Amino acid sequence: LISVGVIGYGYWGPNLVRNLTTTDGVRVVSIADRAPKRLELAARRYPELRCSLDAATVLDDDEIDAVVIATPISSHYALGRHALTRGKHVLLGKPLARSLEEAEELTALAGENGSVLMVDHTPVYAGAILKMRELIEAGSLGDLRCIDSVRVNRGLLQRDVDVIWDLAPHDLSILMYLFGCEPESVAVVGADPARLGRTSLAYLTFWFPDGAIAHVHVNWLSPVKLRWMLVAGSDRMVVFDDIEQSEKLRVYDAGVTVDPLSGLVDARRGDMTAPRLDTTEALATECVHFIDCIHRGAEPVTGGRAGVSVVRVLEAASRSLRQSGSRVPV
Ligand SMILES: NC(=O)c1ccc[n+]([C@@H]2O[C@H](COP(=O)([O-])OP(=O)(O)OC[C@H]3O[C@@H](n4cnc5c(N)ncnc54)[C@H](O)[C@@H]3O)[C@@H](O)[C@H]2O)c1
Repeated sequence: LISVGVIGYGYWGPNLVRNLTTTDGVRVVSIADRAPKRLELAARRYPELRCSLDAATVLDDDEIDAVVIATPISSHYALGRHALTRGKHVLLGKPLARSLEEAEELTALAGENGSVLMVDHTPVYAGAILKMRELIEAGSLGDLRCIDSVRVNRGLLQRDVDVIWDLAPHDLSILMYLFGCEPESVAVVGADPARLGRTSLAYLTFWFPDGAIAHVHVNWLSPVKLRWMLVAGSDRMVVFDDIEQSEKLRVYDAGVTVDPLSGLVDARRGDMTAPRLDTTEALATECVHFIDCIHRGAEPVTGGRAGVSVVRVLEAASRSLRQSGSRVPV
């Protein structure tokens, strides 16, 4: 059994605790949150667990093998570093850290200590995304040419970062998982129409190798929640709508070809199919993967290296934003 302690029981922490308590081979032993109200809630729901206001009681507990951190982004580095220094395996919230330097240091520390470091890039473990990757790897879509992503929320916003660092890590982890590499450059424009003092909506364009392109729209201020993605290959296109209850994924046998001699454009429209998806909660799959990697001493799909990549692109995105949307290398 792997003994786990969880730090942070705000919005996301309860989802992690709920999934961890039902993961085979896991024994959740303690929860820490410095907000008394959140801790009381945790203690009411899980009277058998040790609850503490002080994260150090989890971090310094010799009985604990792995620490799961669900606190605001600005605290990831300090808490992650403390846990890794104590030889714990760590599952850290997204993004891994506030800067590339911090992200690289955490990853190196995990390597030196032989600890598993995993970043909570949850969407990568969703049935629909796993299926898309399977279709791409099988060559069903042809050459991957373009990805369009819309991720807009209703008033759930982080206090210590802008919308790019809060929501775009999800899209970036998906883009890099599907393309299998980092983008080469990025251009970002954003705005703060509600005068929150930080960017609350943004449009991000990414250039990938071989002329492939991706666009991501993130927004904290929408009246509705949208999770929509178009993945276009030369042979087939996939539309992913996570708000749909069934048929979240639709594969269109459609593509556009240009005759190299005549220059004539041929738009092909064939059948649409909705593949069967694994409906396991993404976070449950992720928790199983974390524990499996600990047992095997393996690097998770969203391990330190993937986490560092996301932070590197976020830094480039912030640079572009400061330069009023100019295209900057990653
Ligand atoms: N994977 C996902 O889909 C997803 C979704 C939402 C949030 N998140 C991530 O989860 C993390 C937390 O986000 P949230 O929305 O739950 O934030 P939140 O503000 O709702 O909750 C954070 C909690 O951590 C506690 N906390 C902060 N610093 C602490 C410390 N040093 N010691 C102990 N407790 C501390 C706070 O009291 C609070 O209860 C972030 O990294 C965020 O990016 C991930």
